Amino acid sequence: MSLYDAIQEVRAIYPEDSESAVLPALRLAQGEYGWLSPDALREVADALETTPAYCKSVASFYDQFHLAPIGEHLVEVCTNVSCAVVGAQRVVEAFEGELGCHAGETSADGKVTLRTVECLGGCGWATIVAVDHHYRTHVKADDVPAIVQELQGVVETHGD
Ligand code: FES
Repeated sequence: MSLYDAIQEVRAIYPEDSESAVLPALRLAQGEYGWLSPDALREVADALETTPAYCKSVASFYDQFHLAPIGEHLVEVCTNVSCAVVGAQRVVEAFEGELGCHAGETSADGKVTLRTVECLGGCGWATIVAVDHHYRTHVKADDVPAIVQELQGVVETHGD
């Protein structure tokens, strides 16, 4: 099924207001292309008969959407209060040092994109790091080199 047809299916759920389908439509487009390029946003807008600017404004509000290409792996470090008080910033800095890039960027080998995000809902297990959407709990800066080695394929992942 084409992206256009898939978006028409979700659009049919909201016959009175097709812009209400923008979130599932953006998810479909990101699933198709890996990120929401200007062309992808235009495709979504055309399918919903709205504007690319509207689609981009919605996409830019949510952490789940990527407006730039991402690496093979996605590392998201929560830096909200509960994680911050137990050293989330040191975790971020450790990832930056290991990956050679800043939060919001992708390592030069294209393997890992590093982001900081708002509360991931695991405040009691801070610091939370989501690695490819799987949560690691109680992450300390000292844990970071091993995580990066996993992602770079130096050691096997544990699939948790
Ligand atoms: S503050 Fe980090 S998971 Fe809630």
